Amino acid sequence: MKILVAGSGGREHALVWKIAQSKLAKKIFCAPGNGGIFEFAECIPIKADDVSGLLDFAKKEKIDLTVVGPEAALAKGICDEFRLAGLKIFGPDKKAAQLEASKVFSKELMAKYDVPTAGFKVFDDPEAAKKYIDKHGAPCVVKADGLAQGKGVVVAKTVEEAKQAVKAMMQDKIFGSAGDKIIVEDCLEGQEASILVLTDLKKVIFLASAQDHKRVFDADKGPNTGGMGAYSPAPVVTPELLKIISDKIINRTISGLSREGMDYRGVLYAGIMLTKDGPKTLEFNVRFGDPETQAILPRLKSDIVEVMLAVAEGRLSVYSDLEWESKACVCVVCASAGYPGEYQANKEIFGLRDAAQLTDAVVFHAGTKKENNRILASGGRVLGVTGCGVTIKEAIGRTYQAVEKIKFEGMHYRKDIGYKAINTRP
Ligand code: AMP
Ligand code: GLY
Repeated sequence: MKILVAGSGGREHALVWKIAQSKLAKKIFCAPGNGGIFEFAECIPIKADDVSGLLDFAKKEKIDLTVVGPEAALAKGICDEFRLAGLKIFGPDKKAAQLEASKVFSKELMAKYDVPTAGFKVFDDPEAAKKYIDKHGAPCVVKADGLAQGKGVVVAKTVEEAKQAVKAMMQDKIFGSAGDKIIVEDCLEGQEASILVLTDLKKVIFLASAQDHKRVFDADKGPNTGGMGAYSPAPVVTPELLKIISDKIINRTISGLSREGMDYRGVLYAGIMLTKDGPKTLEFNVRFGDPETQAILPRLKSDIVEVMLAVAEGRLSVYSDLEWESKACVCVVCASAGYPGEYQANKEIFGLRDAAQLTDAVVFHAGTKKENNRILASGGRVLGVTGCGVTIKEAIGRTYQAVEKIKFEGMHYRKDIGYKAINTRP
């Protein structure tokens, strides 16, 4: 089969790496790819959100399966266009992609189908939102409706901070039209978990659980990022909690999507807060998580192409479950100086070969590029160094051993990825 992966991050490197292990994969393309992906795939200079460019390429090359990493193309309706052209693609249709692209759509669907989530109110008028915040009090959470590259959520500790967020989103328009509407919701407390499932709406198969680390500094300090590291499995998600998540969050959402007449053939990612009143949904994403995917896929024993093809063809029911290695896996993100703010780029990366030589370690590239036989850091999140072990503790040790082999000017990373799972601190 000829397979096309759209994207250029660590998630896409992990996908391409896993796809390359499939006996079905004869040729892999990645659009646009990065400085690590080219080892497994032919990188083509088409942006991941260039729907017509991707469609033309897929038609020309007679691609058998396309897998979309980031959300932008899904929200633009890439799956509708590919299917109309008779091409197989892994992902939801444009309407279902609103689950991620519009937080108002997502919360309203959750309310309609009784999916546990934080109490909320939707506003299209900033003054009404501020009045509500005065009445509600702090803490509260202010969310821009549209896509804001993971920056559209403010967990406000004071009324003033919440009102500032309303002003920034609705009046200063820092996210453009993504802030035309906002949500003010109750603040939840607890540990977070990422639950990803494959679905074609007729069948649901759970991927292994994972936990992300969104804050930039150790002990969950500093601003939110796209994710500084992840581990899988997340022992906090006990079988009892997983049953509740399955019944009340995943199944109700899937049945809602189905009843609303949507076409969803892809991965559904539920960001969940494990509160003392039970699991509640923070958000849905309509794609694989980044960096969760880097910690989940090394544990997958089943052939990923076989199962993604079954999803894309709407025949996931042929699978009863996926096979997993019982080992644990940890991914530590190495970022450029300044990230998640403005960062310095084009620093040469050293030690990649030494790190890759360690057993049970793999380095997934995110913001990298190859130039004159050198690998340069070209993005905020640069690498996802990943290690496996029999236990999480062993996986943590192996991962940091690999991280220590790698250097680039200004590189920073969290030193405590995975420690929550073993209830200690480094
Ligand atoms: P979201 O993009 O909606 O998942 O929000 C990003 C992050 O903000 C989440 O991973 C949480 O850490 C935090 N967050 C979102 N909603 C809430 C909430 N209702 N209560 C507390 N924290 C939240
Ligand atoms: N790790 C968070 C995300 O993929 O949105």
